[in-house]
Amino acid sequence: MVIAVRGGMKERTFCIIKPDAVLDRLVGKIIDALLEGGLDIVQMRLVWLDRGAAERFYEAHRGKPFWEDLMALMTSGPIIAIVLEGEDAVARLRRLAGATNPREAARGTLRRRFGTSTTRNAVHAADSLGSAAVEASQFFC
Ligand code: CMP
Repeated sequence: MVIAVRGGMKERTFCIIKPDAVLDRLVGKIIDALLEGGLDIVQMRLVWLDRGAAERFYEAHRGKPFWEDLMALMTSGPIIAIVLEGEDAVARLRRLAGATNPREAARGTLRRRFGTSTTRNAVHAADSLGSAAVEASQFFC
């Protein structure tokens, strides 16, 4: 969603704090980084995904070599689903998240700081306005 405001265009994007980070008690640090990075929280929920919900969310990755590991991670504990708003929110969140593989992510990014493997990489960041809207609709009406 794009919202016109005085002084510029704000976008909305979608983020998940994954079970690895929730179980490691990193939610506060990650939310701090999102806010300090210029994103505002519009909606937020703690949810424990069942297998069906995890499959629906990551349907595009079904059949890939990491599919079962990803399903195991995403159903291993609660997640925090967050709709964020800010200038260039999609690109901003992806910059803050860093590369999928924490070892390749730039220093200071969330995945570099808190991820422990390519699957257990602490956060999900929507890759476009369109996927942000579809993904958010799976958690919020
Ligand atoms: P995410 O941004 O949530 O989108 C898809 C997820 O699949 C990704 O983060 C990782 O958790 C996982 N993933 C993507 N590529 C790989 C890979 N090459 N090996 C293992 N897990 C991956």
